[in-house]
Amino acid sequence: MNERLKDRIAVVTGAGNGIGRASALCLARAGADLAVIDLEADRLASLAAEIEALGRRALPVATDCTDRAAVEATFADIASHYGRIDILFNNVGQSARERAGEFWTSDPATWDFVLAVSLRSAMLATRQVVGAMRARGSGKIINMSSESAFYGDLGLVDYSAAKMGVIGFTRALARELAPFRVNVNAVAPGAIATRAHDRLPATVIDRIKQSTPMGYIGAPEDVGNVVVFLASEESRFITGQSLLIDGGRWMI
Ligand SMILES: NC(=O)c1ccc[n+]([C@@H]2O[C@H](COP(=O)([O-])OP(=O)(O)OC[C@H]3O[C@@H](n4cnc5c(N)ncnc54)[C@H](O)[C@@H]3O)[C@@H](O)[C@H]2O)c1
Repeated sequence: MNERLKDRIAVVTGAGNGIGRASALCLARAGADLAVIDLEADRLASLAAEIEALGRRALPVATDCTDRAAVEATFADIASHYGRIDILFNNVGQSARERAGEFWTSDPATWDFVLAVSLRSAMLATRQVVGAMRARGSGKIINMSSESAFYGDLGLVDYSAAKMGVIGFTRALARELAPFRVNVNAVAPGAIATRAHDRLPATVIDRIKQSTPMGYIGAPEDVGNVVVFLASEESRFITGQSLLIDGGRWMI
């Protein structure tokens, strides 16, 4: 087993399913011990068992990442359990796809939901770890953006805005924390096969494949492996970047 993250403590938000779950397992395979956060306690319990089967420690915490008091209490618990946090993957986020539509008919309450879960949640969690990372002079923060930020998805104005907000947050924080040797980067996936994609009609999936130079939909591990790289010392000179993981659909 490649143990380039041996004995590092990693926190993954929204780890119960999809990209967060796959990334937590990739981090564990690379040697990290995990604290995993999600709303769905049963999914966390099965994930913790999988992490432990890989020989790593797991601390599952059922928390709503948009709830400030709950997030503060959760991170205090994690820090006291493990003693420190080396890696934070702010994965949690979602569009309000079932309420998606043109902006001129949109409801500000929906924007508030999308911004809270896709942008503010990352700021809240990061706020809990930066003090100790600065003091220690090390740390890795990885934020979840999306290809939607670059592309500007029709019907998803709020989500595209939130995910571009993640990129601005990543860049400004990277500059602030670089003197403390804390790296802050983002991943920006295109279409990845998670449960959200299970709900899409076959015609939409076909259209995505046709517009993707690589010709297929990505797997959650395609993101998880990049998260491991950004969490490792192999990427020590990379900060403030937003890495597209989309089979070549959007190139910068
Ligand atoms: N799947 C894709 O194609 C894709 C593409 C680009 C970006 N993303 C981003 O990747 C991230 C993960 O997406 P996914 O497709 O794996 O989704 P998913 O629905 O499979 O998993 C998301 C997880 O987050 C949890 N969660 C949701 N709200 C939460 C909250 N308030 N507090 C704690 N946990 C919460 C859910 O319970 C779920 O386990 C999101 O930020 C999403 O915007 C996904």
